[in-house]
Amino acid sequence: MTISAFNVHLEELRTVIEVALVGTLDHAGWPNSLKTSVEYSLMAGGKRLRPILVLLANEVCGGRQEDAIPAACAIEMIHTYSLIHDDLPSMDDDDFRRGRLTSHKVFGEALAILAGDSLLTLAFETIASAGTSSGSVSGQQIAEQMRILASAAGGSGMVGGQVLDLEAERGAFVNVENSGIHAENAGKHSCNAGATAVRKDVSFADFSSVPVVKSTSRSDSGENVSNQSAETRVVELSQIHRMKTGSLIAGALELGAATASANQENRKRLHCYGHCIGLAFQITDDLLDVTGDQSKLGKKPGRDADLGKLTYPGLLGIETSRAKAEQLVQEACEAVAVFGDRSRWLKELARFIVERDH
Ligand code: IPE
Ligand code: IPE
Ligand code: MG
Ligand code: MG
Ligand code: MG
Repeated sequence: MTISAFNVHLEELRTVIEVALVGTLDHAGWPNSLKTSVEYSLMAGGKRLRPILVLLANEVCGGRQEDAIPAACAIEMIHTYSLIHDDLPSMDDDDFRRGRLTSHKVFGEALAILAGDSLLTLAFETIASAGTSSGSVSGQQIAEQMRILASAAGGSGMVGGQVLDLEAERGAFVNVENSGIHAENAGKHSCNAGATAVRKDVSFADFSSVPVVKSTSRSDSGENVSNQSAETRVVELSQIHRMKTGSLIAGALELGAATASANQENRKRLHCYGHCIGLAFQITDDLLDVTGDQSKLGKKPGRDADLGKLTYPGLLGIETSRAKAEQLVQEACEAVAVFGDRSRWLKELARFIVERDH
């Protein structure tokens, strides 16, 4: 399989998604300012990775692409809302996103927050409307897609991870065992997931070079964070990344499988693949924040260091982080190997995730 064939296929899927997203924006009742701000962020490009994953998972399970389009649009809406809110001054305070000024820079904070809120609700409306307009999707299937999306996006998924990310930035100790992360939420599959399995992300090689924290910094709640072990810090970091980014990515795979009414085994395989590439994706995002170029990234690098974020390269260094991402790609490819030749795009995509420059 050549790289160019993969790129052509990616481009085809991206076009399908762009067209479908435009079709979801025809909302007569919305104030113009809201419509403009939502369109500004949603149609600003972006890799469209999550919706592409929905379509690929649907395809590998033998589904019909048209049944996966509403879920693909919905997850991109949730992702875009998460980016708008992530960039707010009260969060990462970023000025550039997808090659443009961030939403709050153009429309002000209030409208940026509301644009995010609208995208969140539009996501569920999009899935629900597909159910009412298409005879081929049952109410039960719609309810299942909504559950998957809500679980991936909510407190035990993306939003919870964002909370832990901010708490870690502010010096709080993220207690993985008691942070509300449930194994059944973090991953309903047999590969690394959940509070216990996250420990499997960590090998001695990972944390042997990590200094033990001797700081006397305190969390917002006054909790003493000194003397965290190296292992604990890597576990904490892995859990933050699995939740804030991995959950939506694994959710995309799960959604795609659901739209194809896949069996439990195939769902588990795809979910496992999703968790591996999800963590690899955020490790690469952390690396690009150190090594990347604004003209390619469409966002300003160096922000993680400015903000004191807990990141893979910050904790483990560039080489160990790259090796970790590479190992996760291998695991992801193994998880879908059983699909044989049909898994080729998923394998190519896993590789793209760690080799990308944007
Ligand atoms: C950026 O996601 C936010 C993270 C979860 C790291 P992407 O890198 O997928 O952003 P777009 O959608 O391509 O803009
Ligand atoms: C964001 O992670 C994850 C989200 C849930 C949006 P980052 O804060 O690292 O994403 P970027 O680097 O701003 O895109
Ligand atoms: Mg962030
Ligand atoms: Mg950010
Ligand atoms: Mg980042």
